[in-house]
Amino acid sequence: MARNSRPARHGWRVPVLALFAILSAAGADRSVSFDKDWKFFKGQAVGAEQLAYDDANWRKLDLPHDWAIEGPFDRHYNASTGRLPIFGVGWYRKHFTVPAVGRGLYYQLEFDGAMANSTVWLNGHEVGGRPYGYSSFEVDLTPYLQFGEDNLVAVRLAPEASSSRWYPGAGIYRNVWLVVTGAVHVAHWGTYVTTPVVSAASATIAVRTEVRNRKPGAAPVTIETAILDAEGTPVTRHATAATIPARASGTVSAEMQVEKPRRWSVEEPYLYHAVTTVRNGDTVLDRVVTRFGIRTLEFSPAKGLLLNGRVVKLKGVCDHHDLGALGAAVNRRAIERQLEILRAMGANAIRTSHNPPAPELLEACDRMGLLVIDESYDMWRIPKVPNGYAKYFDQWGERDLRDMIRRDRNHPSVILWSIGNEVPEQRKTNGWKTARRLAAIAHEEDPSRKTTAAFDDWKEAIANGLTDEVDVPGFNYKAMCYEQILRDHPKWVIYGSETGGCASSRGFYQFPAEAHDRDASFQVTSYDVIAPPWAYCPDVEFAYQARVPNVLGGFVWSGFDYLGEPWPYDRAKDWPARSSYFGIVDLAGFPKDRYYLYQSQWTTEPMVHILPHWNWAGMEGRPIPVMAYTNAEEVDLLLNGKSLGRRKRGVDTVVIPVGLNVSKTRKFTSKYRLEWDVPYESGTLRAVAYKANQQVAIDERRTAGAPAKVRLVPDRAVIKADGDDLSFITVRVEDQRGNLCPLAVNLVRFKVTGAGELAAVDNGDAASAEPFQADHRKVFNGLALVIVRSRAGQTGSIHVTASADRLQAGTAALEAR
Ligand code: GAL
Repeated sequence: MARNSRPARHGWRVPVLALFAILSAAGADRSVSFDKDWKFFKGQAVGAEQLAYDDANWRKLDLPHDWAIEGPFDRHYNASTGRLPIFGVGWYRKHFTVPAVGRGLYYQLEFDGAMANSTVWLNGHEVGGRPYGYSSFEVDLTPYLQFGEDNLVAVRLAPEASSSRWYPGAGIYRNVWLVVTGAVHVAHWGTYVTTPVVSAASATIAVRTEVRNRKPGAAPVTIETAILDAEGTPVTRHATAATIPARASGTVSAEMQVEKPRRWSVEEPYLYHAVTTVRNGDTVLDRVVTRFGIRTLEFSPAKGLLLNGRVVKLKGVCDHHDLGALGAAVNRRAIERQLEILRAMGANAIRTSHNPPAPELLEACDRMGLLVIDESYDMWRIPKVPNGYAKYFDQWGERDLRDMIRRDRNHPSVILWSIGNEVPEQRKTNGWKTARRLAAIAHEEDPSRKTTAAFDDWKEAIANGLTDEVDVPGFNYKAMCYEQILRDHPKWVIYGSETGGCASSRGFYQFPAEAHDRDASFQVTSYDVIAPPWAYCPDVEFAYQARVPNVLGGFVWSGFDYLGEPWPYDRAKDWPARSSYFGIVDLAGFPKDRYYLYQSQWTTEPMVHILPHWNWAGMEGRPIPVMAYTNAEEVDLLLNGKSLGRRKRGVDTVVIPVGLNVSKTRKFTSKYRLEWDVPYESGTLRAVAYKANQQVAIDERRTAGAPAKVRLVPDRAVIKADGDDLSFITVRVEDQRGNLCPLAVNLVRFKVTGAGELAAVDNGDAASAEPFQADHRKVFNGLALVIVRSRAGQTGSIHVTASADRLQAGTAALEAR
């Protein structure tokens, strides 16, 4: 069931029943946020599940909450998981009341995700929990609720060290919902909407509804589905009479026609709503709203992916779930901002590596027109880390997969179900058996979509038959093998489930010829030439995708930098390296040079980008390699007004010192970038891009003078006063003339007053042990980020000031509405 119409949050002790009455009268969803006013304690707390337990000294907070992001970073913690305290025991408690008139209704608590190994109690009675922190699950509160009295929900989490290859976060890091229903209601994730036949003239909407009857007697009902367009105008409806057996569930199917459907696409992500009403006579028993899209998907060996009959190349990225300085704690705006940044690069797809995402991510992708590969897990039975998912696979593997699909199957953005990433079973002769079982589960839960998995050991995966078990095999870092794979298997439809895998630090340059992957600074050159032995720089993928055009496209590792996995630095020794360098965008959300390399391939709006910065005092007269990324035809590079010669895209090439997957000594000749060796002289370096001899785009680097001032640039000056919305403010250290000082490392202090508060700070430095929750941050290569959150219900202006020693302070004026 889509959650697009979740009502606003409420505080504790608000009578739930009153809310339910208001909600259902308004025709809204039957769930209310359960995020406010929890108490939290990090550590063992014997008896904390009991109502009477004294939590007076516990910390008061609202969900979503990630305790690990609060730090501190510790050199003894594993860098794979970000050197943050992602393990240990944490408790959450929340009191609430339900008035006596609420008796007879049913109360479920839905957790979008709790990291990890959760146990949930109501008034001291265990009511459920879940090992896998990425699974959504519900628990039934009804049997132990005390009406008209105090109730206590307690949640114990016990995430383990060495349980993940990246930062998982820790705590109730996603939203929690209280769902109130009568005895006869739509089951959990009980609606399933597909569009089996779609043409320009009409679309068939197939709706399957599972209704649960908790009463001791059979329940005669009418199940009505109304289809509403995006404006809320009813388009068609259907009603079915059914009898739901006592204490059981029943499923009804209906088909409807929508004339002249507005189809969901990447360009126009049009959404319909299915409003399901369960009635007994005139009495409304339940109502849920499911958001869906009308579209067709086809995977053609000859043409690739067809969305509504039109070829769509997957210009995708893989992303982990953390939101940088905010950690794993879900935030709608933070997710949306990431997607906006990726969209502006030309990306149209996300692979939720390597786990089910937050529902909010899929909602945003539905709304923004991004395609999604929804992935279940990073391992099956064979572990990759000592306490990883392999521990739970036998008992929970099937359930977690089914639940992911039931939860997510109505999202038009989801195009494939991934049953796993680089599972070691690909190297086992019997690995296909598990693949077959999981693919069958996916097809059973959702016959309308195909399955995939990401294989890195392509020869083994093919030899052991795993690739035959999924509909659309994905290959990680195998661009050079696409041709051979398709020659050997001409009926297959394949794509790059992970591509690229280049590493770099924003604004940090070592010249390509001198670049080495590990440096005492714990940074990686931003010339986009360093990649691990199993991966390669973007150019390689571009070249092979062009040669094998029926490959669906691919998913770059990775869209954003993420906490953990600081390759090429050593997980144990190289303190404080603690987050990835693989991102096209740094952890703070600032694009690296690579962003523009992808943009030059993925967009048509004329652009040119040059690197490096132009502050090389001491290098006068020595050649500086300058690279340009453009989607235009030609670029002229000028230093202080003097042309250094035009270069033609696709004709002039650049030899980059990285190997094809194996040896760093091999070279790759790229026609995707342009290069000049420019004897250094301070001043202005300017790139002018031409198309048909017309100037179409310009980029410039100017030698900056000494740092003089701090400038704040908010991404949004007006935010919602809901206690959730965020403004992401770029902090720039500039010289007197407003040039970014690309080497600046000044410490900046922040003050936020008025209707907002400081949520977190960052600068994108992957090797910083400075806390994210602080009122200060050093800029990294000239930039930092300050994230400001509104306060619930507080409207008015928010003032942000940023000051640094010897610099003119910067200010930003925001407004919470
Ligand atoms: C892949 C893996 C990713 C990430 C990446 C780094 O093999 O699937 O999760 O570890 O390597 O290059």
